[in-house]
Amino acid sequence: MDPRDHAMAMVYDRLMRRSERSGLAAKRRELLSDLHGHVVEIGAGTGANLPHVPASVHQLTLLEPSPAMARRLRARAEDAVARPTVDIEVGRAPAEALPLADASADAVVSTLVLCSVDDLDRSLAELGRILRPGGRLVLIEHVATHGPVGLVQRSLAPMWRIVAGGCQLRRDTRTAVANAGFDVTDVHPWRLPGGGPAAPAIAGTASRR
Ligand SMILES: C[S@@+](CC[C@H](N)C(=O)[O-])C[C@H]1O[C@@H](n2cnc3c(N)ncnc32)[C@H](O)[C@@H]1O
Repeated sequence: MDPRDHAMAMVYDRLMRRSERSGLAAKRRELLSDLHGHVVEIGAGTGANLPHVPASVHQLTLLEPSPAMARRLRARAEDAVARPTVDIEVGRAPAEALPLADASADAVVSTLVLCSVDDLDRSLAELGRILRPGGRLVLIEHVATHGPVGLVQRSLAPMWRIVAGGCQLRRDTRTAVANAGFDVTDVHPWRLPGGGPAAPAIAGTASRR
């Protein structure tokens, strides 16, 4: 077991508590509220989105590559299974290689994940592959910015990547999503509460063309 992976899984919910209470949980709820059908979540972590999944979602596939995170996710998903209207499956897979058929998902959820994937373009190609035409990609992602905060991001990025489980502070995720063939009209600038240098963010729903 990778001790850093284990440590991150142990502290993650506590680290995020202030952000969740200051607006992140509300943003999760807002963006997930009208999803339906088969929803796939990548990098589902400890399951922070689970309480916000609406009853209109009948099938939920939660994917998480980290063994320590996936253990917590499974435990949380078991509680959620008490809800009879949703069929939940938890799997271990990275966004770069999704074990799902082409056009099999109505929506994909990615919250604070695309900063950490090893290969952003390949991950986005996979999301496009599994989404049906017109399917939705729900995003909450911190991104690169300009100005003084951009300079801070630049200087912290190498260290941040080591201590934050491979997270990259300087990704232009909105552009990458657009370049991957998604309509990003409804993906807007946002601020991750309590995010420090990772506060500049985007939030919204992209659609597969
Ligand atoms: C900051 S956490 C976010 C967790 C959760 N999505 C949330 O909103 O709280 C980043 C997650 O991305 C996962 N991750 C890292 N590399 C990944 C990859 N290549 N594919 C999918 N998930 C990845 C990590 O294991 C971790 O669970």
